[in-house]
Amino acid sequence: MDRIRIYGGQRLNGTIPISGAKNATLPLMIASLLTDKTLVLDNVPRLADVNLLQRILGNHGVDIMVSGKRSGETQYDGQTLHISAANVIDTTAPYELVSRMRASFWVVAPLVARMGEAKVSMPGGCAIGTRPVDLLIMALERLGVEIEIDRGYVIARAKSGLKGGEIKFPKVTVGGTHTALMAASLARGTTVIENAAREPEVTDVADCLNKMGAKITGAGTSRIVVEGVAKLGGAHHRVLPDRIETGTYAMAAAMAGGDVLLENARSELLQAALDVLVRAGVEITATNTGVRVKRNGSGLAPVEVTTSPFPGFPTDLQAQLMALMTRAKGTSHITETIFENRFMHVQELVRLGAHIQLDGECATIEGVSALKGAPVMATDLRASVSLVIAALAAEGETIVNRVYHLDRGFERLEDKLAACGAAIERLSG
Ligand code: UD1
Repeated sequence: MDRIRIYGGQRLNGTIPISGAKNATLPLMIASLLTDKTLVLDNVPRLADVNLLQRILGNHGVDIMVSGKRSGETQYDGQTLHISAANVIDTTAPYELVSRMRASFWVVAPLVARMGEAKVSMPGGCAIGTRPVDLLIMALERLGVEIEIDRGYVIARAKSGLKGGEIKFPKVTVGGTHTALMAASLARGTTVIENAAREPEVTDVADCLNKMGAKITGAGTSRIVVEGVAKLGGAHHRVLPDRIETGTYAMAAAMAGGDVLLENARSELLQAALDVLVRAGVEITATNTGVRVKRNGSGLAPVEVTTSPFPGFPTDLQAQLMALMTRAKGTSHITETIFENRFMHVQELVRLGAHIQLDGECATIEGVSALKGAPVMATDLRASVSLVIAALAAEGETIVNRVYHLDRGFERLEDKLAACGAAIERLSG
């Protein structure tokens, strides 16, 4: 199993290209199941989760062609996928595949909307809490889908098609909103989604669905209206930049010190996180080509942050911020309101010398003057990258084990950081 070795203490200077967003790419690929025409996606990141979803969709009969590199493209340019679900040969998504990536459960919506049936394994628990699918099922039922749960599978049926309806989410859910949007696009009549997720990835998916012929208004607000259409067509869509990758490298630069341009990043996609960094004493400038992050000499100030749905501070940056605050001058508080149990990184940060106390959903982080390198391991994607951030400022060598978590969501992480001067390398095998 690959590991990553980091020697802390190097400043970061240079440019880091930001890839296409994983959390938009996955639902966009799944949306290809809504049509028998080809969906072309540009700026798709090279990630283990994208490869796994290709396999899952392949199992349904979806044909995916990856374009070769065009002249002038660099190793960092995203890939182009040509996705055709002209021949759906199987509407079952088995446990072996769904259990490896929760988001693959979302295939249930386009499959039942277009094919009239789907049998999809329940995703089960995961390292960051129970993460149920009850609200996704509720959304489908509101659109006339009959749901049966049998031996760990959700069986969804709508033999005479879906009917528009009113879906009111009791809590904001990204996956629930994607599910509702995809299903409602092919339902008869109008669907109103209340308390919809406002995450930029939801807006990106809605934009793509509209290019495919859907009639969606209000995406990006908490009330989305979908006029169902009988059929969707093909489209060509460019995946928006990854705001979580952007925030992660912004925190890496803040931790190590230096001056880094996050190329292609869009500040409006993560304003709440950038505002927190400014409060911590980091210089942030939005430029024509991206976001510039600078910290020279000055120490970090502690912050008080509570995670919340967009446009609030994202849960997917909570672990990284906590790593950063281990070196602040004073005491920070971070409250996690989206996922219970999303503090798996705390024990590992403590191994590096951090002072962190947990009390329910609130973490108190007392800044220390130095962290010390150690072998660490992480149990999920965002937790493992928080250890990389801590290691950038730790004295001596840190080895991050179980790098496959990082490869799920960060493209060429070690290359991007090494190009800016970090002493980081992958140890294979
Ligand atoms: C997506 C993101 C993930 C991010 C999360 C919150 C992708 C691929 N993943 O996950 O990176 O951390 O949004 O921004 O885009 N809930 C229920 N019932 C349900 C569904 C969700 O109670 O049926 C709860 C969850 O347990 C959680 C909250 O709703 O407490 C938000 O979860 P949700 O937004 O659905 O997360 P995902 O879409 O799975």
